[in-house]
Amino acid sequence: MTRVFSGIQPTGELHLGNYLGAIRNWLPMQHETDAVFCVVDLHAITVPKPPGEVGADSLRLSQLLMAAGLDPEVCTLFVQSHVREHSEAGWLMQCSVSFGELSRMTQFKDKSDQHDFISAGLFTYPALQAADILLYDTDEVPVGEDQRQHIEITRDIAERFNSRYGETFVLPQAVVPAAGARVMDLQRPDNKMSKSLDSPKGTVNLLDEPERIEKKIKSAVTDNDGEVRFDVDEKPGVSNLLSILGAATDRDPVTLADDYHQYGALKVDTAAAVVELLTPFQARFAELEADPGETTRLLRIGADKARDIAATTLARAKSNIGLLAD
Ligand code: TRP
Repeated sequence: MTRVFSGIQPTGELHLGNYLGAIRNWLPMQHETDAVFCVVDLHAITVPKPPGEVGADSLRLSQLLMAAGLDPEVCTLFVQSHVREHSEAGWLMQCSVSFGELSRMTQFKDKSDQHDFISAGLFTYPALQAADILLYDTDEVPVGEDQRQHIEITRDIAERFNSRYGETFVLPQAVVPAAGARVMDLQRPDNKMSKSLDSPKGTVNLLDEPERIEKKIKSAVTDNDGEVRFDVDEKPGVSNLLSILGAATDRDPVTLADDYHQYGALKVDTAAAVVELLTPFQARFAELEADPGETTRLLRIGADKARDIAATTLARAKSNIGLLAD
């Protein structure tokens, strides 16, 4: 079966763009592939975090993912730092990638511009990501466009390692899912809905109360020509509402436009569809949140499954390098 590996940065909050654009696409993958999902807490600490924050966010993100439908009985869901093989393999990867290659990573350039303290870990971040992926003999990595470069460098590292030390790692492929809806900020519809945009009124969080969701969608920016038509360039705000309504109701946003002659009605229906979509999710989340011990138990099972695979691959890598056996 195809092995699929995905890493997700721990945040305590997910928004509608995360859900409709990415997470929803992962749900069928758990049944069609051998899917591994990793909450990458060690990647999160490449930038400074207040003590305690990453752990709390990792627990909460795990609960959000489970509430969204990742089933720890079906897929493998675990927290990166619970499987120490990631750190150890990360070092081996650091020794198989050059300073020059890491210097060309655009995510490093972007992130290092945003922080005063630039950790060495932020620079070697792609080596740890390569370890994540290669430890699981991963065939496919579902990622957004922004991560393509990191998958390319992972392949380069694997190829270099294999040619130095003999066949060790599977070369993974990036798959950029075509289906995901592009959800834009409700107030600034030329920008993707994003935590980093810091636009609370333009972002629907998955845990927002129904009244809050309605309020945000009803005050979404549109335009003043009054015509409901799917046209991302000319009518980004209206098109975004059509995309959201379409994604939430499994309909095509272009044909959906024919049903509407007023922005008001489009907003009312979009808000109702989002509330309906999120109500069962919020109920499941509330149950998980009330019993953190159960989440911890499920994550432990995930880490045990992950460790079994990772330990085998790491042992193979160390033995192929020819490190003295212990
Ligand atoms: N770098 C990824 C991001 O910023 C997160 C990540 C870490 C990841 N390890 C991974 C993604 C392995 C895919 C596979 O989103």
